[in-house]
Amino acid sequence: MCGIVGFIGKKQAAPIILDGLSRLEYRGYDSAGMAIADGNTIRVVKAVGRLDILVEMTHNGETMKGTAGIGHTRWATHGQPTDVNAHPHTNVSGTITVVHNGIIENYLPLRKMLQSRGYEFKSETDTEVVPQLIDYYYKGDPLEAIQKTLHRIEGSYSLGILFADRPGELYAARKSSPLICAVSDDGAFIASDVPALLKYSRSVYYIGEEEIAKLTEREISFYDVDGVETEKTPTEIKWDSSAAEKGGYEFFMLKEIYEEPRTVRETLNPRIRDSRVEIEELGMSDEEIKAVRCLHIVACGSAYHAGMTSRYVFEGMARLPVDVDIASEFRYRNPILDPSDLVIVISQSGETADTLEALRVAKSKGCTVLAIVNVVGSSIAREADRVMYTWAGPEISVATTKAYSAQLIALYLLSIKFASARGVISDAEAGELLEELKKLPDQIELMLGSREKIQRFANRYVAARDVFFIGRGIDYAISLEGSLKLKEISYIHSEAYAAGELKHGTISLIEQGTLVAAVATQKELYQKIISNIVEVRSRGAFVLAVTNVGNSEIEKVADYVIYIPETNPYFTNSLAIIPLQLFGYYVSLGKGFDVDHPRNLAKSVTVE
Ligand code: F6R
Repeated sequence: MCGIVGFIGKKQAAPIILDGLSRLEYRGYDSAGMAIADGNTIRVVKAVGRLDILVEMTHNGETMKGTAGIGHTRWATHGQPTDVNAHPHTNVSGTITVVHNGIIENYLPLRKMLQSRGYEFKSETDTEVVPQLIDYYYKGDPLEAIQKTLHRIEGSYSLGILFADRPGELYAARKSSPLICAVSDDGAFIASDVPALLKYSRSVYYIGEEEIAKLTEREISFYDVDGVETEKTPTEIKWDSSAAEKGGYEFFMLKEIYEEPRTVRETLNPRIRDSRVEIEELGMSDEEIKAVRCLHIVACGSAYHAGMTSRYVFEGMARLPVDVDIASEFRYRNPILDPSDLVIVISQSGETADTLEALRVAKSKGCTVLAIVNVVGSSIAREADRVMYTWAGPEISVATTKAYSAQLIALYLLSIKFASARGVISDAEAGELLEELKKLPDQIELMLGSREKIQRFANRYVAARDVFFIGRGIDYAISLEGSLKLKEISYIHSEAYAAGELKHGTISLIEQGTLVAAVATQKELYQKIISNIVEVRSRGAFVLAVTNVGNSEIEKVADYVIYIPETNPYFTNSLAIIPLQLFGYYVSLGKGFDVDHPRNLAKSVTVE
């Protein structure tokens, strides 16, 4: 959601900024812009639509001279996606230029105050108050003007700022919105995320909450919001730079689905020792685990769906009560939390605004917060009490696949750990569960082998209007994710229902030819879901069933069957989700959509 790249150094800035922005395209955007300082002049270009337009307008940046600049891809929040609303924004005289990610919540009173002092505004954005306010406070000291501005603005921001009368300097600041920086032999950089910088440096600085960074071509200095200089140590990024490239796949989404076996292995293997689960990051003794009375799992979107699956696993395996909440609901409903409860927040990006705020609510109520996060050093990782990383590597496609699979593994491991510590399962039972988990990567590989079969099936449904996903228990949680995968990238209306709920209203929507995907992996609920399949089929539905190998009698009631290999019933999600992810992918591909960049969506939702 909005991408920022800035550079100051020895090379021409515009091509570097355009290249960096292209590596942040996955975040989602609807317009792009760039400001380049050449001596004491700052030139701004912006355009609605894809970054390619900006690339063409500037001949890949060649026509914009200057070795310092800031660039931005905008995902519209305040004001339509138009050239005027696109970033960078400037003060009236064009001498202070700003790119911004986040939301300035008090922009209206600030705008009024500035207008009453003669400041004219061009755009409808919240961002434009920032350069104007900096201008209001600017008396020749950029740091002082930025500090005063930060004291006045409320909300979230990551900012890149250029001053025309300071050609050798680039400023950045951050609060509740991601921004990192790095220095290399070529110069100094700022960016919203690691892929934009990987080419230049693996040693990055995470700008802290309400911190300001001053970049010159050789160094970066950091200051708190009161101007006191702070010390910072860089974080080494271990990602292989090829991880952020497509590697021959048409879309990142397919590449990332194919990376799931490796992701599962890397999240799983380091945490199994001598047939036991060892999660050092959890930092809890068995006694402390036993003292936990209730788990609260909080997340958004697919991460919430991973949490939904784990409710069945934790409750079934560890006999521990679990609440699962959508972060945007949890944060505003004054949840009843006891300090003995453990709160688990789940997030791929580690930057989701609602999840971050939910974490803060939980901490304010005295709970310990464990974060399951993919991006090292992200805001959620930094603010949580404990962090369990999913080692999925960079996930570029907007629709999550491999990070979701890694989240499931982290949650299974925690469930086994809790079940053992609470004495619900014996060491031998824990060992057997771990043996089943270790088989998953090869079994996922096997599921990927059905790719062509799923593509053929998906091609028949590119024109579908409505699709329903049904399941019971864990299969309901799988259905939620399968349905989201389809709708977000194919724009086909799709819903997931707990199959037992169908008769309470939804079944009236089933008509001749409606596609119903029925997930049937839970032995104890198998006959129940078969009855639901019969019910929808007798009303004209075409049924795609996903079930365990051996359940061949399902072919009598379903039209098309995909089998998953035998695994423990708690872990079936990891296998059943693969054909559903592939189905969503191939429907989107068949419709000719840009699979990795679905309309209206952003990879990292850093605003509410
Ligand atoms: C769907 C998807 C989203 C994210 C959600 C949370 O494919 O990717 O639903 O799961 O926006 O994002 P994170 O995990 O970054 O907190």
